[in-house]
Amino acid sequence: MKQGKECSARLRTHLARETTMTDDTKKKSTRRSQAWFGRQDRDGFIYRSWVKNRGIPHDQFDGRPVIGICNTYSELTPCNSHFRALAEQVKIGIWEAGGFPLEFPVMSLGETLLRPTAMLYRNLASMDVEESIRANPLDGVVLLMGCDKTTPALLMGAASVDVPTIGVSGGPMLSGKYRGRELGSGTGVWQMSEDVRAGKMTQEEFFEAESCMHRSHGHCMTMGTASTMASMVEALGVGLPHNAAIPAVDARRNVLARNAGRRIVQMVDEDLVLSKILTRQAFENAIRVNAAIGGSTNAVIHLLAIAGRIGIKLDLKDWDDIGQQLPCLLDLQPSGKFLMEDFYYAGGLPAVIRQLESVIDKTALTANGKTLWENCQDAPNWNPEVIRSFDQPFKEAAGIAILKGNLAPDGAVIKPSAATPALLKHRGRAVVFENSDDLHKRIDDENLDVDETCVLVLKNCGPKGYPGMAEAGNMPLPPKVLRKGITDMVRVSDARMSGTAYGTVVLHVSPEAAAGGPLALVQNGDFIELDVEARKLHLDVSDEELARRRAQWSKPELPPQMQRGWVKLYVDHVQQANQGADLDFLVGKSGPYVPKDNH
Ligand code: FES
Repeated sequence: MKQGKECSARLRTHLARETTMTDDTKKKSTRRSQAWFGRQDRDGFIYRSWVKNRGIPHDQFDGRPVIGICNTYSELTPCNSHFRALAEQVKIGIWEAGGFPLEFPVMSLGETLLRPTAMLYRNLASMDVEESIRANPLDGVVLLMGCDKTTPALLMGAASVDVPTIGVSGGPMLSGKYRGRELGSGTGVWQMSEDVRAGKMTQEEFFEAESCMHRSHGHCMTMGTASTMASMVEALGVGLPHNAAIPAVDARRNVLARNAGRRIVQMVDEDLVLSKILTRQAFENAIRVNAAIGGSTNAVIHLLAIAGRIGIKLDLKDWDDIGQQLPCLLDLQPSGKFLMEDFYYAGGLPAVIRQLESVIDKTALTANGKTLWENCQDAPNWNPEVIRSFDQPFKEAAGIAILKGNLAPDGAVIKPSAATPALLKHRGRAVVFENSDDLHKRIDDENLDVDETCVLVLKNCGPKGYPGMAEAGNMPLPPKVLRKGITDMVRVSDARMSGTAYGTVVLHVSPEAAAGGPLALVQNGDFIELDVEARKLHLDVSDEELARRRAQWSKPELPPQMQRGWVKLYVDHVQQANQGADLDFLVGKSGPYVPKDNH
């Protein structure tokens, strides 16, 4: 009897083991990578043999998760210049968890060096990412991203494939230090260049500040676009907790990268694909978090584009409906005082999200398998000066406001928290610049007919017009206005604005001038009404007069060298800012299908 019991127990153990092995084997054999590496034929030989040329043992091809490390390292992208070392940490994590890492480069976009603007290439880089993932034997991917456009480009590309994906941001630089004070990336540049123009700073001091502002690896350390997008990665749930703020050179950034490597292997096992994380709830949370951190207006365009790729319906109005009334909790430049390093030491993004308890969707899943709320519900705040509470915020109603009117039928964007309150309702005479060259030529002209009550208007800086949608929306003020001590004027354009900039700046006017939007018809002397509370942007010109001007309008021609290649493809297919400025044929996803054999 006893023997019989032992026998059946042994049988049950044996059967359980068999079942486990069968499941495991089944899981392994259905992985994408096995369509390459699991083959016993000639093609299998080819797929494996060349990879073995650097000493990869045969057992690495046994069906374990093959993880791509999508690397935007480039010396031409200073913010991502430490990514070789970061990739090594990810690799260690992947090996520790039993995966097989394969690192690959993709187009990298350095915000400060690329001309005419890095945004012109965001969609191109996203195509590189999408096709590189799909065309290769990858089961999951780790995205290494830092500088502004690298983050949305990688998320967009990965969303169109939809394999298990985890994001690792490169982290911000250490705080800039200049003559005993803090100096924030970008934000300090705009301030100091105005000081030089106003004669308050010498050229030598300006050069000295260059060396003081950027003194370590990492991306801009204000709450500019890179920090905003790194926060979006965390808020969307694509990154691990604290992805947003750990400084690039802090050892804990390496720990995060290593943990991401470990986790992606489990995510492949769990089939936790990107579309299970990038849900409507995740985007809504990201919009809320963007308000709470005082995030960049560029996030609007990028999140619309990412949502378009993964198939989530998100539009411009959602930004206003979901986020505008929420407070900004962070006292960070460009709106405030502190920098990203201070933010991390104060508790980082989890401490901000914890404050959003009453508005956050607590069910949104994140890459570590927990919900966003589970990750943040106990997060400590070590410095309430940097991270304020929901009830006593740094700024009230700090989200993005969406304006409409006859000047922007499809919408325009303003960040009220970065604007001068007195200018949020304003009527002024338009001083028009036809394009950025015209602006640069005339803005310093002492004879320019302008005063601080005017509205500066800049055309042809949108997606098609620039092309690529320049960060030119925060136009410099005319010197004669600056000399009066005026620091802000209402500015209206179809351009974007650097996330590190500030002012009463109406951006992303859609449709843009080069696409025949009403902005193209504005003339010097017209009156423009801005009323942010009423969400109104109105050109005080009759419909009849606008129709007359339209009949005389012709589309500005791009120079001949911009009428071929990528730029032509881009201009012919780019959508307007209110749709995310993606190419029309890239919207949506093709999924992770395995392409046919290459022989
Ligand atoms: Fe790269 Fe600012 S220039 S993040």
